[in-house]
Amino acid sequence: HPQFQCIRPIVLVGMMGAGKTTIGRRLAPRLGLPFYDADAEIEKAAGMRVGDLFELHGEKSFREGEAKVMKRLLNGPPHVLATGGGAVTHAATRALIVKKAVSIWIKADTDTVVRRATRRGTRPLLKTGDPKKTIERLLKQRSEFYANADIHVDSQPGPHENTVALIMEKL
Ligand code: S3P
Repeated sequence: HPQFQCIRPIVLVGMMGAGKTTIGRRLAPRLGLPFYDADAEIEKAAGMRVGDLFELHGEKSFREGEAKVMKRLLNGPPHVLATGGGAVTHAATRALIVKKAVSIWIKADTDTVVRRATRRGTRPLLKTGDPKKTIERLLKQRSEFYANADIHVDSQPGPHENTVALIMEKL
């Protein structure tokens, strides 16, 4: 029941391009909660785009920044948080999610993820190599972590509003 769940922050996990940001932004007002996007918060804190952070400081340093931003948010009042697809690869971030949040895995099939994640060319991890192969490899590495989420939701065909409605039913 939403009123019960809202005691804790709601964290959306899943692959890039699954729709976490759009879904989170629409879910938050339905629950009367503020919305945050972890990538946007990192960009604000660093004064730099995610792509530039990856390029200048590397993925490891990006994950540290991501962990720090998530720690600050998840220790604060309830909200809906869209995480970056790789946040769950960081052990401390995983522990934080388990301890503080209700987590939702937004699942989408590989072709949908590839199509959406390559659209704007902003994902540093897809800058080199074949995007589909990269997505398949990342999904294989991350699935066990995503699967730990409290709630699993298949991204619905059509507008993201359909997926939001499904989440509302499952909460
Ligand atoms: C990443 C996903 C991105 C962003 C960064 C790394 C990943 O976020 O954090 O490019 O490792 O999957 P989105 O999932 O919002 O695209």
